[in-house]
Amino acid sequence: MKTIFILGASALQIPMIRAAKERGLYVYVLDYDSSAVGIPLADEFLCISTIDARAVLEAARKYKPDYVMTSTSDMPVRTVAWVSEQLGMRCDIGYEDALCATDKNQMRRRMRECGVPIPKFYAAYSAEDFIGKSRIFKDRFVAKPADNAASRGVVLTDTRRNPSVDYLRRIYDYVHGFSRSGVVMVEEYMDGPEVSVETFTVNGETHIITITDKMVTELPYFVETGHTQGSRLPEIEQADIRRVALKAVSAINVINGPCHVEIKATAKGAKLVEIAARMGGDHITSDLVPLSTGVDMTACSLAAVTGDPIDLTHTCDRGSAIRFLYMNEPARDADASDDEVRIITSIEGVDEAAGMPGVTGVELYRSVGDEARPLRSSNDRIGHVIATGADADEAAARADAALAAVRVTYR
Ligand SMILES: Nc1ncnc2c1ncn2[C@@H]1O[C@H](COP(=O)(O)OP(=O)(O)O)[C@@H](O)[C@H]1O
Ligand SMILES: [Mg+2]
Repeated sequence: MKTIFILGASALQIPMIRAAKERGLYVYVLDYDSSAVGIPLADEFLCISTIDARAVLEAARKYKPDYVMTSTSDMPVRTVAWVSEQLGMRCDIGYEDALCATDKNQMRRRMRECGVPIPKFYAAYSAEDFIGKSRIFKDRFVAKPADNAASRGVVLTDTRRNPSVDYLRRIYDYVHGFSRSGVVMVEEYMDGPEVSVETFTVNGETHIITITDKMVTELPYFVETGHTQGSRLPEIEQADIRRVALKAVSAINVINGPCHVEIKATAKGAKLVEIAARMGGDHITSDLVPLSTGVDMTACSLAAVTGDPIDLTHTCDRGSAIRFLYMNEPARDADASDDEVRIITSIEGVDEAAGMPGVTGVELYRSVGDEARPLRSSNDRIGHVIATGADADEAAARADAALAAVRVTYR
């Protein structure tokens, strides 16, 4: 029996753990969290952090898995690449390239070298450096940690409204608090609709699976509140988006496997937000892609690792949408420190939402009595609904209606 290490056992990894079991593999899941929800689905659990590459390597030397992979989290992508290189196993992305796909500073540099359209950017290494670099932008810019995810610590900084050094310092401290390496990115703000592009590369040839319209919160934060497939942007913009996505994938030298490419359609053309050398999270690849295209990217990703045939055939052309549930709050400044934590007092309408036309899933991540926080990262969302329809508009309308049917109260 062939064996596989799957790095991560959170809810995000469950579709991959299931797919590996269905393929008859003996599955080890690795996670630092011994209560991770995917553990009971696997054959064996190893309590190892997925970002502790040396510990993962040691375990791989001991258990000798035939394959090592992860599905939808960023940092384990580096670990998989490094461990595979160390063991001389087949690598679908090299370690240096994996760094470029997971560290926003290195990513921006690589993309600039490869001629991929990106915003103007700087990396700041201290508060003084940050303040100095922020002055290059006349009014507003995006500040974000070089190496986090789920929009943690990403803020629009508006120096026209508040030009004080104090304000910039508070922003720096906030963002820096989310940066593992301590590096803070200072970037030109790209205005325009945002999409993500799911791609799959087979022997160096990249295929576009679909383009997804992304909804994010009101400024100054950028938390994803919904996704709709396929994109409703004009075809000419989508062609430009596809071109930029393919260039970005090629810049990180992916040989086999999925990428999730985030792009803004600006007045000056499509520009890259970021690229991840893995499947998209937020239920995009696990739920929306199969509903709207029929492509099973989870199975394809596993097949890419095991060397089995990869089937990217689109078997349908429909719409799908996810909408996230979160606590609404009045608009605040990016440096507000009085974020209010509240307690959920009731959740109603879940069954009603689940029974609405086209709805394929309603999930709550919190229960009555749990805390709810203002939306500052994807982890603050409290649930979601997923719907399908004949096209993207119908799916979106159905998901919106189902979301509205779920009523949550707080105190
Ligand atoms: N330079 C930028 N201009 C405009 N929006 C941006 C920029 N950088 C990030 N964003 C917004 O913030 C979101 C999160 O940033 P991203 O770089 O994707 O970090 P994460 O790894 O947390 O997803 C993006 O999806 C986008 O909406
Ligand atoms: Mg992102």
